[in-house]
Amino acid sequence: MDPPTVYVTRPLPPPGTEPLRAAGLTVLQHEPDSPPSRSELRAGVADADALLCLLTELVDDELLASSRRLRVVANLAVGYDNVDVAAAAHHGVVVTDAPDVLPEATADLAWAAMLAACRHVVPGDRLVRSGRWEGWSPTQLVGWPVHGRTLGIVGLGKIGAAVARRAAGFSMRVLYHSRSHQAGEQLGARWSPLDVLLAESDVVSLHAPLTTSTHHLIDHAALVRMKRSAVLVNTARGPLVDEAALVAALRGGVIGAAALDVYEWEPAVSGGLADLDNVVLLPHLGSATDEARRGMVELACANVVAVLAGRPPLTPVAVPRAAR
Ligand code: DGY
Repeated sequence: MDPPTVYVTRPLPPPGTEPLRAAGLTVLQHEPDSPPSRSELRAGVADADALLCLLTELVDDELLASSRRLRVVANLAVGYDNVDVAAAAHHGVVVTDAPDVLPEATADLAWAAMLAACRHVVPGDRLVRSGRWEGWSPTQLVGWPVHGRTLGIVGLGKIGAAVARRAAGFSMRVLYHSRSHQAGEQLGARWSPLDVLLAESDVVSLHAPLTTSTHHLIDHAALVRMKRSAVLVNTARGPLVDEAALVAALRGGVIGAAALDVYEWEPAVSGGLADLDNVVLLPHLGSATDEARRGMVELACANVVAVLAGRPPLTPVAVPRAAR
């Protein structure tokens, strides 16, 4: 019998596909460093036993139905909104994600984005590079303090909690909004209804998963509840924010600034955003450290190897109750 085949949708950082090959699996690699087209993806999974994919691949009922042998989808991300988990369960396919290997890296990036937006780091860099900087001025690029202010965290999973822990070093008051009221107590954070968190926070940082109930969680109504000096940070998923409403709010001074690592129509950036000086725009870098990326690859490969060997996956995604 031929060894099982794993279709891998992008060249991977170290250790790459080595753990799959070392386990005796055949690797079918999509070589370009860009997402496969829909027809390439369909061809890739047609005879594959496993799919190792990224958040850029839509794994829906149609794709799952087109595969003859698929047993596991290992998503190289902690978020899995690109995968229809209920449909996968229906097709007998296990879905896994990468939950524990990237929270610290993503929290570091959220803080980098927050500090950059509050202290005009990007326009400052641009000014120095332009050769037009004439020296220190008391009125130049004056930002908002971070130390001692209120941080509102929306979604207190592992990444939100890692962001909250860092706030102690900045003597911040931390509010959080999430499904569980208990989770934040040991972090010194206080649970708040979302509208209170939005009204009282100087920085609002988003860490909720993308679901039907969090889509456009931050819309026009939410933005007008925020302080006029507030800074919105999104390192979670773009569609949590109504980007058209955000552009209008940033233009009209409804909020002070924003820092985005993710976009509603990723990789497209909504019209107007790139023209604004009060927004920091990053190319989805949350987990982009060598350590986190190695951890993600090792975990995704280990999940594939386990399922194809008939063992339980290390980090399965829970199947929605309605699909069990
Ligand atoms: C994730 O893991 O969900 C990120 O967005 C990519 O690291």
